[in-house]
Amino acid sequence: LSTTEVDLSPIAEGQIVTVQWRGKPIFISHRTKKEIEEARSADIASLRDPQPDADRVKAGKDQWLVVIGICTHLGCVPLGHQGAYDGWFCPCHGSVYDTSGRIRQGPAPLNLALPPYAFTSDTKIVIG
Ligand code: FES
Repeated sequence: LSTTEVDLSPIAEGQIVTVQWRGKPIFISHRTKKEIEEARSADIASLRDPQPDADRVKAGKDQWLVVIGICTHLGCVPLGHQGAYDGWFCPCHGSVYDTSGRIRQGPAPLNLALPPYAFTSDTKIVIG
């Protein structure tokens, strides 16, 4: 299947789940208010791959972050809710991503990529 439908309703606030899309892991993070605040308050100019949080989530749905779960360094799968920025930590060479999936420390050059997806209802997305 080239698309993956995901029901978000069982994903609790603060929880990250991994689904598969075209053989790739996709992380779906139901962000807490604190995680959203952290993502918004980052100094964009200081980021390696500068991108505001608002450009990484859907308008009005910023509690949901959906990213491709592949480290942009050499392709390992980062671990969620780890690292100094509360986001992801890549155990291979120590890249650290924030709660928006943006690269903050370590060798990875780019933010975690965003898959194409759309909300089909308040609690459902289709990836792809
Ligand atoms: Fe993630 Fe190298 S593959 S830090």
